[in-house]
Amino acid sequence: MTSVAVLGTGLLGTAIATRLLEQGLNVHVWNRNPSRIVPLVEKGATAIDDLGEAVGNDRVLIFILRDGTATASVIETVGELQGSTVIPMGTMGVEESRKLATQVADQGGHYLEAPVLGSKPQALSGSLLVMAGGEATVFEAQQPLLSHLSQKPLLVGPVGSGAATKLALNQLIASLTHSFSLSLQLVQQAGVPVETFMAILRPSALYAPTFDKKLQRMLDHKYADPNFSTALLRKDLRLFLEEATTAGLQDQGLTGLLSLLEQAKGTELDAQDYCALHELTVLK
Ligand SMILES: NC(=O)c1ccc[n+]([C@@H]2O[C@H](COP(=O)([O-])OP(=O)(O)OC[C@H]3O[C@@H](n4cnc5c(N)ncnc54)[C@H](OP(=O)(O)O)[C@@H]3O)[C@@H](O)[C@H]2O)c1
Repeated sequence: MTSVAVLGTGLLGTAIATRLLEQGLNVHVWNRNPSRIVPLVEKGATAIDDLGEAVGNDRVLIFILRDGTATASVIETVGELQGSTVIPMGTMGVEESRKLATQVADQGGHYLEAPVLGSKPQALSGSLLVMAGGEATVFEAQQPLLSHLSQKPLLVGPVGSGAATKLALNQLIASLTHSFSLSLQLVQQAGVPVETFMAILRPSALYAPTFDKKLQRMLDHKYADPNFSTALLRKDLRLFLEEATTAGLQDQGLTGLLSLLEQAKGTELDAQDYCALHELTVLK
């Protein structure tokens, strides 16, 4: 039976570990705050109490932590990797992932970055979009495992290319949500019925499915029970902007959006669904 350790059982990590358990894999779990692994242990996962014991016979290590810094630090604590494959699935910077690949090699492991698009529902149903970066041989060896989480895991290219692709997609999440929110605010203030606006938008080339996914939350101003938090969207937009600077892109349009998202810091919006950004697009 395939043995896998899931390190980081936050929102996405818990869903991924649950899916792997349901697929019949031998799942080991670790989280900094150990209370968050309890529901998974109750479902049949094995607790990793000491990071020094995370590595096992042919066990693959999947990391789903907040960012690259946390991932590098936890991998360091794991220690000698004894030929294990390390798969970080959290979102991080391109250079961070490349450095992590070197760190993993120095610790005796193989590396495959595998960031994902999709959230809890897609993880639970095995329909995440996996964009891997690394060597083809490592990717091929991990295809069976990744196929439990994704219908068609893709190898984008070498290490860094998966991270860049993921940041490019998350820039779209931020920008599309921001654009839709502004348009919604304007039509509502002009007294245009939202359904009329949507009836024009939906069949047009401007429509994106995410608009309807977030519309009700925005209309109700209810952002509890998030799939992806405002704080994490801000983290990813900042990472995109760092890459944009390196790539010599004109990013003025996005720096304004980042400063808007900064306004969520220290408020209840930060832990809520990222479309709580809608609360920031109107002057209060
Ligand atoms: N949620 C999504 O839909 C989604 C989709 C695609 C990608 N992602 C990415 O996946 C990653 C996890 O997202 P999430 O939504 O699961 O976030 P989350 O619910 O906030 O979980 C964050 C995880 O990181 C751990 N962590 C944070 N700082 C740490 C540190 N310094 N040392 C050790 N562990 C640390 C947390 O541990 P504690 O519980 O102890 O705080 C928790 O396990 C992020 O990179 C995110 O951008 C998320």
